[in-house]
Amino acid sequence: MSELAIVTIDGPSGVGKSSVSRQVAAALDYSYLDTGAMYRAVAVFVGDSGVDDRNEQAVVRALAALRLTLAPGKGGDTRFLVNGLDVTCRLRSPEISLASSRVSAFAPVRQKLGLMQRRIGEAGRVVAEGRDMGTVVFPDAAHKFFLDAHPEIRARRRALQLQAQSANGAVVDEAEILRQTMLRDRQDSERPIASLRPADTAMIIDTSAMTQEQVVDLILDRVRMAERLIRDKQALK
Ligand code: DC
Repeated sequence: MSELAIVTIDGPSGVGKSSVSRQVAAALDYSYLDTGAMYRAVAVFVGDSGVDDRNEQAVVRALAALRLTLAPGKGGDTRFLVNGLDVTCRLRSPEISLASSRVSAFAPVRQKLGLMQRRIGEAGRVVAEGRDMGTVVFPDAAHKFFLDAHPEIRARRRALQLQAQSANGAVVDEAEILRQTMLRDRQDSERPIASLRPADTAMIIDTSAMTQEQVVDLILDRVRMAERLIRDKQALK
């Protein structure tokens, strides 16, 4: 593997990027960077600061007081600390999903997180997952992927996941999940900066009819093949 290789995996919400990225990183022995969780941590901070997350000026003013830290957790997981406080278990609520999508549209928020993400990427051997990894943050990444799936399929997968997680068999409102999925798609795609789109050289994978394992295998095959080509070319020099 090339020493500084970065693999970017972008795509809309609920497409399975996190699970796929985590598995790809483990198979390559790379670290895994979940940039969506970073935006979610900002949303938690904004909410806890009593700031309206639709008010860009207020969010930007509050941002100066944010110290976001990523720390290694158990079993290779990352913990997200906001001013020293571990907020990892609060990142996945539907409210934070929508709020993170809103604050991620503000340029100063993106600048702050983009800088952190590039610093983390400097060490190389990273699988970076998000919306703009291949287009904005790591435009020179060696391997770029964009995962996609129909919104209905993404909402169904999410509903099944929630159903499996709920201990008391609570009924999951799939129609509401679909509504929120489509709302976030719209917010993430229509914003003027770092909007959700595949990088020109990204391999686009429609995962609608694929299992997670098939997606992971496809990505690993592609990365390994590209690395072999790079090595062969270098050997010919
Ligand atoms: O991947 P996720 O659902 O955890 O991301 C939460 C929100 O953060 C998402 O709606 C858009 C935003 N985001 C972003 O703008 N850029 C990224 N690189 C990652 C996430």
